[in-house]
Amino acid sequence: MTLEITFSTLFNQVQQKIQDVKNEMDLSHIDFPEGKQLRPRLFIISFLMCHPSVPETHSAKTRLINTAVALELLHEASLIHDDILDSASTRRGKATIHTKHGKATALVIGDILFCKSVELIINTIYHISNAFFILKFIVTASNIAKGEMLQQLIQSKEPNTKPSVDEYLKYIRNKTAILFAAACELGALHAGQKRIKALEYWKFGESLGMAFQIRDDLLDLISNEEALGKDIGKDYFTDNLTLPYILGYQSLVEQNLIKNQRKLSDFTKVQKTLEECGAIKSTKEYYQKYFNEAMEKLSKFPNNEAHILLQSIIDKIGDLKP
Ligand code: IPE
Ligand code: IPE
Ligand code: MG
Ligand code: MG
Repeated sequence: MTLEITFSTLFNQVQQKIQDVKNEMDLSHIDFPEGKQLRPRLFIISFLMCHPSVPETHSAKTRLINTAVALELLHEASLIHDDILDSASTRRGKATIHTKHGKATALVIGDILFCKSVELIINTIYHISNAFFILKFIVTASNIAKGEMLQQLIQSKEPNTKPSVDEYLKYIRNKTAILFAAACELGALHAGQKRIKALEYWKFGESLGMAFQIRDDLLDLISNEEALGKDIGKDYFTDNLTLPYILGYQSLVEQNLIKNQRKLSDFTKVQKTLEECGAIKSTKEYYQKYFNEAMEKLSKFPNNEAHILLQSIIDKIGDLKP
């Protein structure tokens, strides 16, 4: 069996299990389309880099699939909560859950998915009596919440307060990069790697996740809603000053674009100002730095077929087109 077939066989089971868990929790009628499923993909690929074949036993395979499912459910829970925090109206090309069902329902749906993800992880470690897995998973979940909190605290300061670049890098590391890191590290740990070795996978995922979030924030400024499947310019209109806004803050002030009432008609001028003052270029440099770091770390991993499996993810994140 080629590694590509091994991967698709395992991943089909992950997708089936995600559906089964949602049906079991009466969530099947909630319209939440599938996303790119990057985190469970990174998890399984990291596993296959260290162990290029299916797990030997049925229970080892079940544990692998459950962990992949748990990573996606945790991510989905964080997105549902994030859309409430960001008052976002579209996600994955559809109306957000809180828009359709109300904030209270969306909050509990996020909680159900989160609890289910923890349940799957506990079930997994219960059999292998390794508390390190659950510790990793829970610390990751609390880091996501911490990242979201740090970002909210900045946004709830005086309107138009500019965070520092370091504050920005800290909250995106927590809310996004750590889940990428954990997905890769847990994959290596599942394959039986020592913690010190698995840490290399953590670092790879962390750099990739940093590049991913900076790219996401840049696309919010330069892309379009149809391509992204979510609201565009949202960060400007909600006073969420992400990296390009931090780097171009002075020019935006000079153009009178940092103000309490943000008009739709100003957005083109914002894009132009950030382009002309070099803030978009500098944001791309930050993004490139993290992306290159990830590639550098990846080049040190075992050179097997699993690298091919990563390629479509790398191509996507390594490209600034949506
Ligand atoms: C969106 O993540 C949230 C961020 C961390 C920027 P994805 O772009 O992976 O979302 P889906 O799951 O594919 O919709
Ligand atoms: C990403 O935050 C969501 C989490 C990591 C929880 P953003 O608010 O930046 O992501 P999008 O743009 O809504 O997907
Ligand atoms: Mg958001
Ligand atoms: Mg957000």
